Amino acid sequence: MAFHQLKVSHIERLTEDSVRLDFFPVQYGSADFNFKAGQYLTLETEINGSSVRRSYSLCSSPESNELSVGIKEVPGGVFSTFANRTLAVNDVLNSMVPMGSFVNPDECSADKQFVYFAAGSGITPILSMIKTTLECSEASNITLFYGNKNVRSIMFHEELEALKNVYIDRFRIYHILSRQQQDSELFNGRIDGSKIEAWDGLCMDSAQTDGFYLCGPEAMIMSAKEALEQKGVPSNKIHFELFTSSAGEDARKARQETESSDENAKMVELILDGKKMEFTFGKGDDNILDKALQMGADLPFACKGGVCCTCKAKIAKGTAEMYVNYGLEADEIEKGFTLTCQAYPTSDSITIDFDQV
Ligand code: FES
Repeated sequence: MAFHQLKVSHIERLTEDSVRLDFFPVQYGSADFNFKAGQYLTLETEINGSSVRRSYSLCSSPESNELSVGIKEVPGGVFSTFANRTLAVNDVLNSMVPMGSFVNPDECSADKQFVYFAAGSGITPILSMIKTTLECSEASNITLFYGNKNVRSIMFHEELEALKNVYIDRFRIYHILSRQQQDSELFNGRIDGSKIEAWDGLCMDSAQTDGFYLCGPEAMIMSAKEALEQKGVPSNKIHFELFTSSAGEDARKARQETESSDENAKMVELILDGKKMEFTFGKGDDNILDKALQMGADLPFACKGGVCCTCKAKIAKGTAEMYVNYGLEADEIEKGFTLTCQAYPTSDSITIDFDQV
């Protein structure tokens, strides 16, 4: 997957531990950096002698002609620390073109009700979606529940308040704080299923909502999703994007325990840019992506956690299972797509095609 160069044109400090970075392509026209609200960039650079890549959601709206991401420093996070402390205006990073399926197909419909749940830096794709809908739709209503530790840690606080003032009849924000007491208990703590239960009918109307969009840590997403489903919201109205998850560990252990000791190695054939490569996938191998990278394939990836879908490919022949999948929809799996960072072959031979994505 090709990388293109982006130059940092502006850096804005959002909170003590987060920045907004604006970019422009070094060579205009060399790649298509148009994007949909909710998509992300996969950035790559060399840090302390190693190539490091991470995906970050675009926070600008597609109509703004800006290419911007928000990055919150994660304790011990190599890329996020670099972005917050070292990166400077005019530095150049490598980037894949925008990708991702966490988008709202009805974002510009005339009159819809959307509810967004975000925690921390999960606001970045959601901010892009909210700005887009407010700008392009005439009457759609938006309610945002945004969880943070305290007021000082709210990313894009001023921008959100400014949007609320401009679209006062159509945009409502509720801030939920876990380490700062607010007057109403309803908004203290974290976003979870019990809070959603309490908010429904007061701050939102789940039955009248056309789409729910969630972005944040796994615990928040799973609890919110379950609560919405229990309230009868159909699952095709609930869309989410997770931060990288560790849930695959249990599935990996389960696979190791059930794998029989005499299991034969599987043959894997990969197709990328019209070229084929073959290798065997043996008992000690974890997933198709890692094995292929080890064998020298230049494959696209970012999160390696089954979240971002950058490593998506089609199973053209044979079968595979995934440890976890937080990115592909059920119809994509039915069509044979898989996340290669999570996939291991279950048939004796398998063909994985990266060109049919
Ligand atoms: S690299 Fe993100 S889902 Fe595989």
